[in-house]
Order: sequence, then C-alpha cells, then structure tokens
Amino acid sequence: MKIVHYPHPTLRYNSATVRQVDAELKKICAEMFDLMYEANGIGLAANQVDLPLRLFVCNVAGKPDEGEEFVFINPVVSRPKGNEEKEEGCLSLPGVYGAVRRPETITFQAYTLDGQEFKQELSGMFARVVQHELDHLNGVLFTDRMTETGKLAVRPELDEFEYDYELRLRNGELPDDDAVVQRLKEIEAKYC
Ligand code: CO
Repeated sequence: MKIVHYPHPTLRYNSATVRQVDAELKKICAEMFDLMYEANGIGLAANQVDLPLRLFVCNVAGKPDEGEEFVFINPVVSRPKGNEEKEEGCLSLPGVYGAVRRPETITFQAYTLDGQEFKQELSGMFARVVQHELDHLNGVLFTDRMTETGKLAVRPELDEFEYDYELRLRNGELPDDDAVVQRLKEIEAKYC
C-alpha cells in the first residue's frame, strides 16, 4: 500500500459507502496511520491509498504517541458555521500549499471501526482536517477550492505532477485508467 499522487484517477473517484468492516479493513486502517505519520500528515483518506471506500484516518497531532487517532467511516458534515481561510497541503500533492476558505465550525458525524457513532461539533484544525478528507472521498482536492489566483500560482507544480504521471504511465510503471477502475470495482464489491 502506498500514497498515490495527483493526478492518479482514484483521487477523482467518488468513494462508496462502507457496509462491512472485517479484520483486513482494520489492518488497512492501521497501515494508513503508518503511511500518514511517515509522510508527516495529519489525515489520510482511503482513496489516497487507492481504495474506493468512504473512510479516512486522522490525528491532528500528527504523531503516533501524541493526540488521538480516529478512523471515520461514512462521514457526513452538516450545520456549517463561519468562514475561515487557512493554508492547506495534501499528501497526494507533496510540496504544494495554498489558502483554502472553509466553514469554521461544523457538525461531524461518522462511524468508528467498531461500529460506534461519532457525532460532535468540531472547530479549528480538527474541523478543517475532516472537511479536507471528506472532500477526498468525493474526488475533490484542496486545490479545487483555492481562489483563481491561488490556482494560477500552483499551476506549474500541478503541471509537473501531471507530466511525471504521464511519463510513468507511458513507461508502464503505472496501470492504465481502465485497470485502475476495474480494481476499484472489485474492492467495492467486497466492502460496499
Ligand atoms: Co489531502
């Protein structure tokens, strides 16, 4: 398992509702935490590791021995309040940063790995992370939410990621889009 980078097609995939949690999925979540910490991240969505499932892991502290680890399954955001602009980055776009405007406070509801409901009003960094990760599950990247000026500023970096992806695709280092979708459908059939 590894983190896929923009413009990998799974990052644009609308992830499917998880209906079943098994030991393998729990193992996958543990591995996602490892990958997230390794990359110095605070959140990682399943489609960032090439899985089409509506779940993400996060720990706002960004360290395994600090903060609190959460696995959120089938997350829903409601009651957005306020508006705040903050700089964001993404493990699927390493080195790219930009300001994103988002609601400051939200009500967040999801299920944990053991089927418990989590429902809380969140604000600050926690609210921002869950909104960023939930966007991933809908195929949305933080750069999509930047201002036109912001998008222009990161365009050269995105171009470089696109060029690199094309090159690896042509060299046969990556499966083509059809093969990627075929694999996602198989995983969906298992868990969704
Ligand atoms: Co991200």
